[in-house]
Amino acid sequence: MSHLVAPSILSADFANLLPACELINTSKADYYHIDVMDGVFVPNISFGLPVIKAIKKHATKTFDVHLMIVEPDKYIKDFKAAGADILTVHYEACTHLHRTIQAIKAEGMKAGVALNPHTPIYLLEDIIQDIDLVCLMSVNPGFGGQSYIENTYNKIKDLKALITRKNSTALIEIDGGVSNKNAAELVACGADVLVAGSYVFGSDQPEKTIEGLKELKF
Ligand code: DX5
Ligand code: ZN
Repeated sequence: MSHLVAPSILSADFANLLPACELINTSKADYYHIDVMDGVFVPNISFGLPVIKAIKKHATKTFDVHLMIVEPDKYIKDFKAAGADILTVHYEACTHLHRTIQAIKAEGMKAGVALNPHTPIYLLEDIIQDIDLVCLMSVNPGFGGQSYIENTYNKIKDLKALITRKNSTALIEIDGGVSNKNAAELVACGADVLVAGSYVFGSDQPEKTIEGLKELKF
């Protein structure tokens, strides 16, 4: 399988999200990456359920919803109703991660787990077989436009080894600071999904930028 590209609408124009939807629908993008921030788990507030519901009406591709919130269990059914296809929770926000993952799957969604830059891969040892996607944060979550943390390359390799050893089907997603400078190396290390916010929406030719990430031609 060739890798997937997931533009993050966090960097789109919130006063006019329709062009962002059209861009993702018609470009070579694979997923909508949708960042929900609560101002508690991360020091920023983004948007929530009503905005996701509104864009769902115009979207033709998979909704990859990244919850940067505490107590995500409370809202699993709501995010399903809003249109989430993949629901990712943070390892650091879940006391009973196994239960949370089962609850996400019981709603018919794929279950993702995100790791902050300081959270080691080995903590997924006993849960990796239950996970559909692991989101490795390559910046500290909370804001778009930050610099890529170089140690992520090592984490991808460690995660890939764990996935292989445990016969897991989890996809490896990289989130934060992805651009032409690191995309090819990320995929070479084992990344399956590249999230990109400011690199796509800050571009003069976002459709071409998405294509570049997909084809790894810059
Ligand atoms: C950061 C978010 C990212 C963000 C990435 O907390 O999870 O998805 O949108 O933005 P860039 O690509 O600009 O680093
Ligand atoms: Zn994200």
